[in-house]
Amino acid sequence: MKGIILAGGSGTRLYPLTAATSKQLLPVYDKPMVYYPLSVLMLADIRDVLIISTPTSVPAMRSLLGDGTHLGMNITYAVQPEPNGIAEAFLIGADHIGGEDSALILGDNIFHGTGFPGLLRDTRKNLDGATLFGYPVSDPERYGIGELDERGNLVSLEEKPKQPRSDNAITGLYFYDSDVVEIAKGLTPSARGELEITDVNKEYLRAGRARLVRLGRGFTWLDAGTHESLLEASQYVHVLENRQGVRVACLEEIALRMGFINADECYSLGERMTNSQYGRYVMTVARSAA
Ligand code: DAU
Repeated sequence: MKGIILAGGSGTRLYPLTAATSKQLLPVYDKPMVYYPLSVLMLADIRDVLIISTPTSVPAMRSLLGDGTHLGMNITYAVQPEPNGIAEAFLIGADHIGGEDSALILGDNIFHGTGFPGLLRDTRKNLDGATLFGYPVSDPERYGIGELDERGNLVSLEEKPKQPRSDNAITGLYFYDSDVVEIAKGLTPSARGELEITDVNKEYLRAGRARLVRLGRGFTWLDAGTHESLLEASQYVHVLENRQGVRVACLEEIALRMGFINADECYSLGERMTNSQYGRYVMTVARSAA
């Protein structure tokens, strides 16, 4: 299975923070935002990841994450010249996907919850068509919304409905079989001029091949798209890390636990950042695994 992180967009809602840098490189407490979606793909045991970003941000992303070898991964990059819609990721990423199944995650989505790694592995194993993840929100008109029947089957999907039929937001994490590229090729831009991911999902739904997994209470999903939600995301990670003494989305730790790298390799990654608490945490994790 191949992974894609879509980390483009103009970021205008976060101006002036994003006037000179990409939103997905902004800090969420102790690490750049893009670490969080990358950690999700790693937990799904996906080692081959394409990062799609703007022409100006790709070089910065590359200097942050390189080719991924240090994490036992293969990370490549592609440019999305204009924010023409989320589904464009499958046109830009068609060669990367190469006829396999794929997982797409938006670069500003943060997921955290117990049992998430197991859920990701099950999703991958049982994938048949499309698997989406739903999360209850108080402002459903801001999201893609999925309506379920009484047996929990997905029956309708709408992008930012004025009168939402449910409060079940479709999060920015999507698993698809290899048909997704052909489906994306057949899309036409919506009224707002974008290739909509919701239109891809509707196509799977029409074919009876879309499933929605509900992320319930006890699970956290944040999209850091406004000043307030960015601050909340940092506060969330801060409280959790401080209280528990563990780190969320520590890529080196995940690479070690997933068996992508060994304890010695992990230790030397930490050693390169020995001045920071993050680096010292990586060294401690590596030492206790040796
Ligand atoms: O966060 C989940 C929501 O993401 C879903 O519920 C919606 O169905 C989906 O359309 C999307 O809604 P947003 O309003 O959040 O989409 P936005 O245009 O803000 O884009 C989400 C992220 O993807 C953002 O970080 C920028 C990036 N992006 C977006 C577009 C349209 C790109 O990199 N390229 C693009 O062309």
